Amino acid sequence: MRALVIGGGGREHALAWRLAQSARVQTVFVAPGNGGTALDDGPLKNLPITQPEALADFAAAEKIALTVVGPEAPLAAGVVDLFRARGLPIFGPTKAAAQLESSKAFAKAFMQRHGIPTARHATFSDAGAAHAHVEQHGAPIVIKADGLAAGKGVVVAMTAAEAHAAIDDMLGANTLGVAHNADGARVVIEEFMAGEEASFIVIADGKTVLPLATSQDHKRIGEGDIGPNTGGMGAYSPAPVVTPNVHARAMQEIVQPTLAGMAAEGMPFTGFLYAGLMIDAQGRPRTMEFNCRLGDPEAQVILMRLKSDLFEVLLHAALGTLDQVEKGAGLEWDRRTALGVVMAAAGYPARPRSGDAIAGLPAEQPDLKVFHAGTALQGAAAVGEGRPGAARTLVTNGGRVLCVTALGDNVRSAQARALAAVREIRFAGAQWRSDIGHRALKS
Ligand code: AMP
Ligand code: GLY
Repeated sequence: MRALVIGGGGREHALAWRLAQSARVQTVFVAPGNGGTALDDGPLKNLPITQPEALADFAAAEKIALTVVGPEAPLAAGVVDLFRARGLPIFGPTKAAAQLESSKAFAKAFMQRHGIPTARHATFSDAGAAHAHVEQHGAPIVIKADGLAAGKGVVVAMTAAEAHAAIDDMLGANTLGVAHNADGARVVIEEFMAGEEASFIVIADGKTVLPLATSQDHKRIGEGDIGPNTGGMGAYSPAPVVTPNVHARAMQEIVQPTLAGMAAEGMPFTGFLYAGLMIDAQGRPRTMEFNCRLGDPEAQVILMRLKSDLFEVLLHAALGTLDQVEKGAGLEWDRRTALGVVMAAAGYPARPRSGDAIAGLPAEQPDLKVFHAGTALQGAAAVGEGRPGAARTLVTNGGRVLCVTALGDNVRSAQARALAAVREIRFAGAQWRSDIGHRALKS
């Protein structure tokens, strides 16, 4: 059978790599893919298509057994609705269900309606009212743009001055480049929550949910969690902060009511549902945000540990028969820790530079995999555009370039294994954090 993964980041490389390991899968097309999915040619094939209509045409013509959507943008644009209308099997949420991520205002109102624990908030389109709210509540306080911003539209303001500046930017100059929703620019201002974060991601078919292994992401660019937010500079799985008790509470108080609420409101959630948790000192999880997709780089570490056949599981989820997986073996995980270190381009996150040559990539080993994100294989032939004889050079082509992912018996050994490989890889201006996993090492 043939599968299709929509997207071209590290998450999609990991999805395609795992899907291709299914005994039932011969080829996984990745649209548009990246340099890493081009290097893994054989089972993986890059497909230079990004338009939803053209992807559906391809899936129909090539009899694609399952399409899996990686990023939020095509989901928010309704790619799942389009495929379903044409009878094409696809795993992901509809446009309506994807509002849990695409509109923070929708997500907050939904959580309020269904009693799902989260920070108190207020939404503003008027800058004057937003500034007054900050004056009233003081800092620390959190300012979020209502729209998709690739993880960059959130300012955790430790001072009122930072909060005011963030409001002016998000409702004015928009230097963060937030894609505003149709009804214009809005900000959500939130209560600051103290605690430790974890990524809690489940597979849902609208009725049944299967939790994936837990993970923790490192969003700041700098070691010690300082500097600007990024899409994520590294991750590890499992996250020890999610104790069995926290896990049970997250399922009962957040995931189950969310699935039930979405079904009751006529938009059953199918796809990966990602609850970003803030866990306080008493072990109470609250929802910081929902994403309607796998995290990146969480996907890389989670999928590194997944032993079950991903294609089988996601096909069941797409067809509404996830209960069969639940009643069968469930999801099986490698007991070891997976840890991924992101190597980012010079200038990331503000102005990443592209075109730097990449050298020193290690050979793939059972406990080490380099997932590519912002890379391009120059001279590589994509489907239908053979260029025989061209020299193939791997270059940087985006902000987050690679996620070097290793398995180890504990966090420390997985981190050491990943960093040893990182140090062999060379490109001009490479940035990475050598402290990924530090919260699990302290405890
Ligand atoms: P988000 O995109 O909503 O996940 O926000 C990005 C980051 O901002 C999160 O990973 C947290 O580190 C931080 N953050 C968001 N909301 C809050 C909050 N209410 N309290 C404290 N930190 C927050
Ligand atoms: N790594 C965080 C995210 O994918 O949203």
